[in-house]
Amino acid sequence: MAGRRTMHAVRYDGYGGGAAALEHVEISVPVPKKNEVLLKMEAASINPLDWKVQKGMVRPLLPPKFPFIPVTDVAGEIIQIGSRVKNLKAGDKVVSMLGYWNGGGLAEYAVAPASLTICRPPVVSAAESAGLPVAAASALQALRTMETKFDGTGKAANVLITAASGGVGLYAVQLAKLANHHVTATCGARNIELVKSLGADEVLDYKTPEGASLKSPSGRKYELVVHCTVRIDWSTFEPNLSANGKVIDLTPGLGTIVRSAWKKLTFSKKQLMPLLVVPSNEDLKFLVELVKEGKLKTVVDSRHPLSKAEEAWAKSMDGHATGKVIVEM
Ligand SMILES: NC(=O)c1ccc[n+]([C@@H]2O[C@H](COP(=O)([O-])OP(=O)(O)OC[C@H]3O[C@@H](n4cnc5c(N)ncnc54)[C@H](OP(=O)(O)O)[C@@H]3O)[C@@H](O)[C@H]2O)c1
Repeated sequence: MAGRRTMHAVRYDGYGGGAAALEHVEISVPVPKKNEVLLKMEAASINPLDWKVQKGMVRPLLPPKFPFIPVTDVAGEIIQIGSRVKNLKAGDKVVSMLGYWNGGGLAEYAVAPASLTICRPPVVSAAESAGLPVAAASALQALRTMETKFDGTGKAANVLITAASGGVGLYAVQLAKLANHHVTATCGARNIELVKSLGADEVLDYKTPEGASLKSPSGRKYELVVHCTVRIDWSTFEPNLSANGKVIDLTPGLGTIVRSAWKKLTFSKKQLMPLLVVPSNEDLKFLVELVKEGKLKTVVDSRHPLSKAEEAWAKSMDGHATGKVIVEM
């Protein structure tokens, strides 16, 4: 049992307003349903989708109602389990992905679906694991759109990762290198050394003409692009792709969806594919294991206490985080 009836939470009560619209409240500790667990929270990580929902970019789907406690990616300790939960118990240290519809991460306690809750070993910290659910799973699922074996036994390919210094990009670089791919990455000048240190073979400063062209300095054509930013036109990607190259667009707008459908209809060899991450217990387990083995790390941009969650929110909204923005409880 929580032992406490109320908790500190951070929520918003309407669309827009950014960090200034987050309000600190004292509300009831939630009660887990039969397939849920109650967590005493240790850390949460912010994803751009969290503030895009606040902006109204996913309306009318999300949020389902106001007021809404945002954030889905969390780590904590189980203090209560629902009546049907069998594989988890009170006292387990875990990482969870809360449902997009429920949110709940910016609070001292949260209910998580048991089906998306994974035990983490002591060597994997709360902050490290809270970074994983959306960002690392997106990188993993993007790389899996072609044959990719993360033990390095598969066929190596030429991979471009745009915005490689961001939450998704830094995981994508590391995962691509585990698969033995040749990685070209784009990021700002200040992060070039970091991105190289995580394994990228060549790094382009996106603010230079060479970076904007996306051309591989070693003349490679990309079999796969993990595209983690916006405002890069197909005409820039196209000449850099191999004959069957594909661009996996993690930030798809209407243009991507229309062009992607057209390419399928016309049997184009070069493909453009929108990707929305699919929450997966198996993927989360796999990622936690990689962190445990020291093969994958979470780069933390900054840590903020829950009492200053609005600073974390503003940091993520600014669009210049290097790795994950973490809120600690
Ligand atoms: N489809 C999905 O399921 C899914 C899942 C996860 C994320 N996403 C989306 O993917 C995008 C990336 O997410 P994220 O968490 O990685 O974001 P993020 O952490 O906020 O990314 C920030 C980083 O991007 C870099 N950057 C910005 N514009 C760039 C450009 N034109 N070229 C190269 N680097 C650039 C910034 O570098 P500087 O500071 O140097 O500018 C900064 O380091 C977001 O739009 C997010 O919503 C989608």
